[in-house]
Amino acid sequence: MNRALNALQSTKSTRNLGLKHRNTFGFEVSAELAYDITVPEQIPEVMSEIAKQKLAWRVLGGGSNVILPKILAGATLLMNIAGQEIISADDKNTYLSVGGGVNWHEFVAWTLEHDLPGLENLALIPGTVGAAPIQNIGAYGVEVAEYIDSIIVFDVKDQAFVTLTKDACCFAYRDSYFKQNPQRFIVTQVVFKIPKSWKPRIHYADLAKQFFENANPSPEDIFLAVCKIRTHKLPDPKVIGNAGSFFQNPIIPIEQFEALLKKHVDLVSYPDLPGKRKLAAGWLIDQCGFKGQRLGSVGVYENQALVLVNHGGGTAQDVLSLAQSIQDKVRAEFGVSLVIEPNLF
Ligand code: EPU
Repeated sequence: MNRALNALQSTKSTRNLGLKHRNTFGFEVSAELAYDITVPEQIPEVMSEIAKQKLAWRVLGGGSNVILPKILAGATLLMNIAGQEIISADDKNTYLSVGGGVNWHEFVAWTLEHDLPGLENLALIPGTVGAAPIQNIGAYGVEVAEYIDSIIVFDVKDQAFVTLTKDACCFAYRDSYFKQNPQRFIVTQVVFKIPKSWKPRIHYADLAKQFFENANPSPEDIFLAVCKIRTHKLPDPKVIGNAGSFFQNPIIPIEQFEALLKKHVDLVSYPDLPGKRKLAAGWLIDQCGFKGQRLGSVGVYENQALVLVNHGGGTAQDVLSLAQSIQDKVRAEFGVSLVIEPNLF
């Protein structure tokens, strides 16, 4: 409790804080009022101050899935709650409690060091643990939702801490109850449920290729393979600003898919939901000739058309105009609408 009291007394707020290094696009951004949140107990007081002053607000994790304007008006809560620990175990599972501000990739590495495999397919995804469930991060055939037991949040509407079970989180492809109810919940801790039985999950084409001659890789083998594939396909935000996939992979009715397939025999798609088909947005954009293209300071990454990049000096507006021309062309060519994946603040 002392820790919480100390943090409360010193809830640091900073005016006009530069956030260039806290958004992976590397945009020049200034937060009018930024709060450093290191323990959950700070949140009720900060939120009541924000309500009193009728300020706009948002939570920022690692800034890896956001498009930030030049000025972030009102209050920005910098989610910096640390800590990861094993809280219990039974015959089948180990339960871990992890602070919302913990770096996702470092957490995945920690689970492997503690012999708790399961999350290795999600290695090297930028961002924080608290942000992971909001868009239900996923890669190489695994989604984080599968490993979540419950989530501790501050409910801004009811001004209380609540534990939401996995079912209450309504997880779906890049979607959750939190994403459906913006401005309502602040994730403080995530409780993970890691099954003790483990099997490699290497069915995803890119991974299967890596293990062509090794059907029994270890979790560490998979971790390293995922890191290798991602490093090759996705730009390192420390080198070229980006927010990972800029668009969601569109899910379309099966009839529309069949009609498209007649015109484009090499259309890349996945069976996702009954009666529907998920298309590879990267393939659609690539076919429209955008890969490696530049528009001023921003552009489309040369190795993966789904990733928009900031070559330096770009702004949210620049990237949004490029996105608009991509959306227009893909709609004209394929009759498919692309939805922007990162959050627009
Ligand atoms: N493709 C192209 N040209 C491109 C890009 C992709 O033809 O420029 C084709 C690929 O050849 C492949 C297909 O499109 O056949 C899919 O590409 P990829 O395997 O690279 O995956 P993705 O669907 O583009 C998704 C996630 C990524 C995740 C990877 C791996 C979304 C929106 N994106 O990308 O997530 O890492 O699968 O599982 O679901 C992110 O969300 O930020 C992200 C990077």
